[in-house]
Amino acid sequence: MMQITKPVSFENVVSMEDLSAEDVLSFIHEAQDFKAGKQIALKRPVYAANLFFESSTRTHTSFEMAERKLGLQVVNFDPSNSSLSKGESMSDTVKTFQAIGVDLVAIRDKQNEYYKDLIADPNVHVGIANGGDGSGQHPSQSLLDMMTIYEEFGHFEGLKVAIVGDLTHSRVARSNMKVLTMLGAHVYFGGPKKWYTEEFAKYGEWMPIDDLVEEMDVMMFLRVQHERIADDENGSFSAEKYHAQYGLTAERESRMPQRSIIMHPAPVNRGVEIADELVECDKSRIFEQMHNGVFVRMAIMTSMLRNRDLIKEEY
Ligand code: CP
Repeated sequence: MMQITKPVSFENVVSMEDLSAEDVLSFIHEAQDFKAGKQIALKRPVYAANLFFESSTRTHTSFEMAERKLGLQVVNFDPSNSSLSKGESMSDTVKTFQAIGVDLVAIRDKQNEYYKDLIADPNVHVGIANGGDGSGQHPSQSLLDMMTIYEEFGHFEGLKVAIVGDLTHSRVARSNMKVLTMLGAHVYFGGPKKWYTEEFAKYGEWMPIDDLVEEMDVMMFLRVQHERIADDENGSFSAEKYHAQYGLTAERESRMPQRSIIMHPAPVNRGVEIADELVECDKSRIFEQMHNGVFVRMAIMTSMLRNRDLIKEEY
């Protein structure tokens, strides 16, 4: 059944900081409607392109699946065979896609807040969905995480959510600690204390993993991002030691409350953040998060289609 919420309409969807609690709930409800079979009809052919200047499996393919399910035509882009190798900028690449008739783009780039210059440019009119910027924001991941939690518990108020792992390099941690707090959940942190800086302390206390597993409703693990960690730190990193000190072992999982769930944005370093056999255990929602990602990205693209008055009918 369709949910009655304020339809979301955004020119661009680039940061969770632009969204109110009501907006987040509206995105979740619209994504749930798409999961339940909602469809849209477009007023004219609409074109989308996914400009991923940094590697991705889930976000890239999930945006493409969402676009195809909405009836959008998807224009291919392969950065390794593009004119980026001749020195063309991201801005000129975006303007090129706009000039050939693309209406909406999803972009991922290693530069934090790359989208600010694009949005400020009066010659850029294409709708921008942020698929992740450096260690900044990852709004579609954050919304799919919120959808997965909401599906499980039906509310956020008073839930205890732990974010455990490589906080410093994680755009997921930054997006989620803010939105969870805004929605009324209590945020806690775990993992190596060197990654728990003042920025995170403002949102919640750090606790040892052995205490977190016994108290939390949601245990959200983060990947150790070796590609963003200095070589000398990577050289001294031991997967076994990290897993023993900060990871979800079978013994720790056995002490989690019955209704609690395990989340991870993936890709997972199996046997590091989470024991290999727990990635698909009963409490794990990791693959459901990916499944929900398609419907959340349908809702994100729909909000930009609605903003441009490109939707003929919703049913
Ligand atoms: N969770 C996530 O962003 O995965 P990808 O890097 O594969 O897109």
